[in-house]
Amino acid sequence: MRIPLDRQSKLPLYKQIDAYIRASIQSGSLPPDTRLPAARQLAADLGVNRITVENAYAELEADGLVYSRVGSGTYVLPPGPLQPLLQDAQGGSWPQWQQPASPDGLEPWKTAAVGMLPTSPDAGLLDFSGGIGDHRRFPVEDFRKVIQSVLRDDGAASLGYGDYRGYAPLRVTIAHVLASQGIQARPDNILITAGSQQALTLVAQLLLQPGDTVLVENPTYSGALELFRALRLRVVGIPMDERGMQVDGLEALLREFQPKMIYTIPNFHNPTGACLSGQRRRQLVALADRYNIPVLEDDYVGDLRYEGRALPALKALDPGGRVVYVSTFSKMLMPGLRVGFLVVEGPVYDRLVRLKHASDLATSSLVQRALQAYVTVGRYQAHLRRSAQLYRRRRDAMLLAIHRDLMPEGAGLSLPAEVRLHPPQGGFFIWLRLPGGLSSEELLPLACQEGMAFAPGGLFFPEGAGGCDCLRLNFAAHSPQEIEEGIRRLGRALKRLESCKRPNFDDT
Ligand SMILES: Cc1ncc(COP(=O)(O)O)c(C=O)c1O
Repeated sequence: MRIPLDRQSKLPLYKQIDAYIRASIQSGSLPPDTRLPAARQLAADLGVNRITVENAYAELEADGLVYSRVGSGTYVLPPGPLQPLLQDAQGGSWPQWQQPASPDGLEPWKTAAVGMLPTSPDAGLLDFSGGIGDHRRFPVEDFRKVIQSVLRDDGAASLGYGDYRGYAPLRVTIAHVLASQGIQARPDNILITAGSQQALTLVAQLLLQPGDTVLVENPTYSGALELFRALRLRVVGIPMDERGMQVDGLEALLREFQPKMIYTIPNFHNPTGACLSGQRRRQLVALADRYNIPVLEDDYVGDLRYEGRALPALKALDPGGRVVYVSTFSKMLMPGLRVGFLVVEGPVYDRLVRLKHASDLATSSLVQRALQAYVTVGRYQAHLRRSAQLYRRRRDAMLLAIHRDLMPEGAGLSLPAEVRLHPPQGGFFIWLRLPGGLSSEELLPLACQEGMAFAPGGLFFPEGAGGCDCLRLNFAAHSPQEIEEGIRRLGRALKRLESCKRPNFDDT
């Protein structure tokens, strides 16, 4: 190959070689699969150092114009991308494979769901959209000490992968806690996961195939809907009332849709706060057993009861291996621990362990040990009691504020119809239905302007199944004063929405 080189030029020789070969490839005079001369040979032909040629080849390879085959040489690649590039709204161009073959429900979050976005919190915004308690109560200092003592006492063992099923002493502790709630679980049937979200993921991945149907309460936890959509499952909603899932209609749905799983949140349901009645619990477990359908029980905040009788977990009614029970330390302690767990008996347990291992090898050993040290000293139970007292007061403060500011007889508003709600007996959430079919999607931007945010109801319904006139408020994350102020702001936003929807509405 004869490459004209200008030795007086400021352009380094390797760049000149690169430019010449590049132009030859682009013009087609060096067609795809042409073997370039060996670097040693070309260097000799051109009277340059071999490194100079190798540098030129390396540049061409980095830009995707040539490739090298070990022991064989350097070859020209086909010019340009084989596929047209995918352009995004920001002007970036990406290979076509980045485009999903069909809609997968994983498009970027809508800005309307402001509180659900991982953005930095706006200082003035009272955000009632979250799914946890008050982060100001996280036992940060205790946990710092516990982590230090684990590192000191356990040393390198605390930084290894550890047991893939989860740290054995923590599984024993979880079994004890569950026993106090009426669930007889052996540590060998407990799998520790990265939050309960991973437990839901593993179960759904293992038991269902794309296109299979999963039955869920309608509405249900938005993160489960997101997961099921991502796994390309068909989601069918079971109607609810104030006693939870309407189990009476379940059998017809089992026959019609032949689902592969029932996902349910029997305690302090997210988003409605409802509790499944004791009778319905028994019916549900019996039906699922009769139809040979696994029940995935999500008990994300079951211990946080403010009043009323505790009801047995579905797992406590399970004759064995019918119900996969899932729970978490995110809600009672801290979500950043990313420690949840599942309980199930039978061969499916080992398969779940293998899938967990294939997914992320193991949950953080250090965090599990710290958690074990923290929960065994009785602090967990005390923390639970204090949280329940505190959150109960906050729930009452929110109910009072709603009655005062959002009900027709309230001083702040005169709405034609009142908002509707069922006071929850535990958990974090109040579920409101707006008067006159007003849309929570439309209300949210106005509420943000007033300085508060909530989770709009549409997030919690399987596609196209409504919920636009509903919204979810978290009462646990804020003080009573903040709650009063937040609901006042919501009232103002509601009033503004009312008056632009119904211009003749008398809002004096
Ligand atoms: C009902 C329900 N289940 C599961 C989860 C998952 O939580 P984590 O993965 O933090 O345990 C959440 C989180 O908000 C939830 O609300």
